[in-house]
Amino acid sequence: MIGALKRFFAPAEAAIVEATPADAADIAALHAVSFRRGWSEDEVETLLIDRTVLAHRARLGRQFAGFILSRRAADEAEILSVAIDPRRRGRGIAGRMLDLHLRRLAGLAIRTVFLEVDEANESARRLYARAGFTEVGRRAGYYPKPDGGTSAAMVLRRDL
Ligand SMILES: CC(C)(COP(=O)(O)OP(=O)(O)OC[C@H]1O[C@@H](n2cnc3c(N)ncnc32)[C@H](O)[C@@H]1OP(=O)(O)O)[C@@H](O)C(=O)NCCC(=O)NCCS
Repeated sequence: MIGALKRFFAPAEAAIVEATPADAADIAALHAVSFRRGWSEDEVETLLIDRTVLAHRARLGRQFAGFILSRRAADEAEILSVAIDPRRRGRGIAGRMLDLHLRRLAGLAIRTVFLEVDEANESARRLYARAGFTEVGRRAGYYPKPDGGTSAAMVLRRDL
């Protein structure tokens, strides 16, 4: 009941800032519920202290709502992972977080951003399409599906 009230009164606008190692537990927990292969808290912490990794996290009030991580190499970056708390999806938080993340990467002299997305992941594909990513490659049969089949990984690119 208290949790429901807190959620009801949580601010509508997410606060998005750079993530720190103190966010490792929240990121690992959300990653675990969002992807087939989870990341341990240690793995996330290792990424967060890596100087080539850029990370943002979103909060609604005091509640952790999502994260995005990318790794830089020369003037390119790869989005490693992005996820929003399942209860907070569909209200534009990922779109705002991705936009801020891309602007920060541009500020770090990154010219091109790549990522891989499951062709069956409708919401992620819409998120990236809206942010200006276009398909530049495809790996057939890359992701296993619950029904035993597979779906392709789409390689997307956005020039900054
Ligand atoms: C993909 C994800 C990050 C999107 O987060 P979100 O905050 O819900 O995204 P937004 O609200 O900014 O919406 C982004 C787009 O997805 C669409 N969308 C949101 N939920 C959707 C759903 N269930 N089905 C289809 N499209 C959906 C939105 O309409 C929007 O598209 P539009 O701008 O054309 O209307 C979120 O669904 C998630 O965490 N998924 C699990 C992890 C994952 O798959 N990450 C991506 C790996 S590549």
